[in-house]
Amino acid sequence: MPCTVLAGGFWGDEGKGKVISYLALRDKTDFCVRTGSVNAAHTIWYEGKRYALHMVPGGFVNDKCRLLVAPGANVHVGQFLKEVDETNAKNRIGVDSQASIIEEKHSTQDKTNAHLKGLGTTGWGVGPAIEERVRRTAKLARDVPELKPYLTDVASEVNSALTRLKNVLLEGTQGLLLSVFHGTYPYVTGRDTSASAICSEAGVGPTKVDDVILVLKSFMTRVGTGPLPGEISKDEAIKRGWFETASGTGRDRRAAPFDFELAKRSVMIDGATQVALTKLDCVFPECRKARTFEEIPRDAQQFVGKIEKETGIPVTLIGTGPDALDIVDRRK
Ligand code: IMP
Ligand code: MG
Repeated sequence: MPCTVLAGGFWGDEGKGKVISYLALRDKTDFCVRTGSVNAAHTIWYEGKRYALHMVPGGFVNDKCRLLVAPGANVHVGQFLKEVDETNAKNRIGVDSQASIIEEKHSTQDKTNAHLKGLGTTGWGVGPAIEERVRRTAKLARDVPELKPYLTDVASEVNSALTRLKNVLLEGTQGLLLSVFHGTYPYVTGRDTSASAICSEAGVGPTKVDDVILVLKSFMTRVGTGPLPGEISKDEAIKRGWFETASGTGRDRRAAPFDFELAKRSVMIDGATQVALTKLDCVFPECRKARTFEEIPRDAQQFVGKIEKETGIPVTLIGTGPDALDIVDRRK
C-alpha cells in the first residue's frame, strides 16, 4: 500500500500523531507529507520525549523518512524553523515553494475580527491567512529567504516516489467535523479537512490512493464552541478519565461518548478503508498496553466489533497507551 491518507474522523485530537509515528516506524514510510496549518498540534511520544508538532510531519521519528510540507499548507516560519531544530530534520525536510505563509498580523486578526468572535478559534490566525490566500495577496514560501534552503516541488517528489513504489503517507490535520465543507459550520476551521482535501493539498490525484485510514478516538472531544452530541460535564469527564487539555492551546477539551452515526458519516465522506481506534484504554482500562486483540477484555472487543459492523470497514489499529508502540496491529 504505497499511498496512504491519514485523516481525523471527529473534531481533531483523535490521536493522529501517535498513529502516524507508529506507521512511519512500522511500515518504513519513505515520504510523509504534512498538510494544513499551525493550528493543529500532533502529539508524539518518541524515545521518552514528548513532541507537539505544529508544522513538521509526524514521520520524523523514522530518520530515513523524507519530510514534506504540502503546497496547500500554510506555513508559520518561526514555528517551522523551531521544530526543524527540535526534530533534527534539517537535512531531510522540504517545503513546497507554493505553500502560503501565516504571519503575525493574521493572528491579530483572528483575535480581533468581529466575524470570528464566538467561534473559539485557536488564535493562530489560520482563517485570516487563508482569506488572504484566496484574495491572492498572500506571501508564499518562495518569498521567504529563511525558507530558501528547504524549497521543493512536493507534487513532483511525491508522484515520482509513487511510481517507484515508495511508501507515502499523507498526514491530515484536525477532523472531518471541523471541515469548512462537511463540518458543523460556522463552528469549523478555515479549510476542508477531508481525505480528498488532504490529497488536493499535497498534489496527489484520487486514483493514486491505496488506503484511507480514519482515526477515531474511543470517546469524542472538542475544543472551542459548536455542537458536541452527547456532551458530558467536565466533572463526569474527569471521573471517566476522558478529560484532556489541548496540546496546542492548553484549553480544556469538552468530552462525549463515541457516536456511531458521526463515525459512519466520516467513513462515508472520507471513503475510509480502515479505522485506527485510539485510546481504547481510556474507555476500557484493562486494555492498557495490550499488544494483541486476545489480551483485550470481552466488552472492549464488542465495542470494536460494533464499530466495524456499523461502519462496514475493519478496525485495523487499536491504541492501548501513549507510547508509539502501545498498539494492537491487526493488519496481518
Ligand atoms: P481555527 O482553526 O483556529 O480557525 O479554529 C476554528 C475551530 O477549529 C475552533 O473550534 C478550534 O478549536 C478548532 N480547531 C482548530 N484546529 C484544531 C486542532 O488541531 N484540534 C482541535 N480543534 C481545532
Ligand atoms: Mg491536536
